[in-house]
Amino acid sequence: MKNKIILLLALLIIISGTVYLISDFLKNSSEFSQEAKPVVIGFSMGTTREERWFTDRDLFVKKAQELGALVSVTLSDYDVDKQISQIEGLVKQGVNVIVIIPADSQKIAPAIKIAKEAGVKVIAYDRLIGDSDIDLYISFDNVKVGQMEAQNILDIVDNGRFAYIGGSPDDNNSVLLKEGSMKVLADKIASGDIDLVIDEPTPNWDPEEAYKTVKDYLKSGKKLDAIIAANDGTASGAIRALAEFNLDGKIPVSGQDAELAALQRIVAGTQTCTVYKPIADLANKAAELAVALARGMNPETVNFTDNGKIQVPSYFLEPIAVTKNNLNDTVIKDGFHTYDEIYQTPVK
Ligand code: BGC
Repeated sequence: MKNKIILLLALLIIISGTVYLISDFLKNSSEFSQEAKPVVIGFSMGTTREERWFTDRDLFVKKAQELGALVSVTLSDYDVDKQISQIEGLVKQGVNVIVIIPADSQKIAPAIKIAKEAGVKVIAYDRLIGDSDIDLYISFDNVKVGQMEAQNILDIVDNGRFAYIGGSPDDNNSVLLKEGSMKVLADKIASGDIDLVIDEPTPNWDPEEAYKTVKDYLKSGKKLDAIIAANDGTASGAIRALAEFNLDGKIPVSGQDAELAALQRIVAGTQTCTVYKPIADLANKAAELAVALARGMNPETVNFTDNGKIQVPSYFLEPIAVTKNNLNDTVIKDGFHTYDEIYQTPVK
């Protein structure tokens, strides 16, 4: 009898152990299949006008694919209605997450509603999306970009007639950049050392608009001592206007994006500085976050941004100020552009 009980107990232990092992195996294998399951991510681009956006797209797609996701890219070139219907299309297509560079930070909101109602998660990429339930926002510290631009100019000229050539009025980044630049200039504007003679936005960040803004001012015969342009594209327009008045290279001009043409202008002396934003860090992190959200994970964040509706969990990356003096240690070291491209290609 005693032997039978021992045998029974041993059998019970073996059976329960096996059941545990099987259930553990099933648990792990379901986690495994969850991870291996291909997820689909939409990458909705409201603009591709600047050089950087192609880098953003290529790096994002590459990283997301490495992580096992499929990516569907759409482009709408500042046509916000088109971007909304493209997002609707991505939702119908069955994507799990949509990463959005909005053509318009506010007007894109209806698309977010459509996506969220269908259970699709949304990440605002580089530009915040206002008044909507987005899941994440990832960008650079744009206030800091604006500060760097203004500081680099102040280090060269700290008084006189300044121009602020702003970004597109429908891009939330334009607000942040201006906030940063004005923080740096505020005291000198208040004391009268700096006279802000131009303070204009640039619709769709169009270099042609920036050209017109500066040209119209100079045409009237008035003087200018410095230009803070919100990005390298607007800086290029401003510098083209300066050149028509033989002023290129004679007054400092700032920009951002570390575009190749801007770096060449920095070498040539017609642009003073730019701000380098390591796009690889942004695109890779965004791809990781998108894949994580698609797999049902909830990435933790320490920052939150008020978008008018909710406190959006946010990630911010650090920008780097670039002048002639640190080209080698920044953009060239990172392989963002090569020495040969910057120094040997003729300036456009
Ligand atoms: C980006 C800049 C870019 C500009 C125009 C902004 O939202 O942050 O890097 O130059 O849009 O595309």
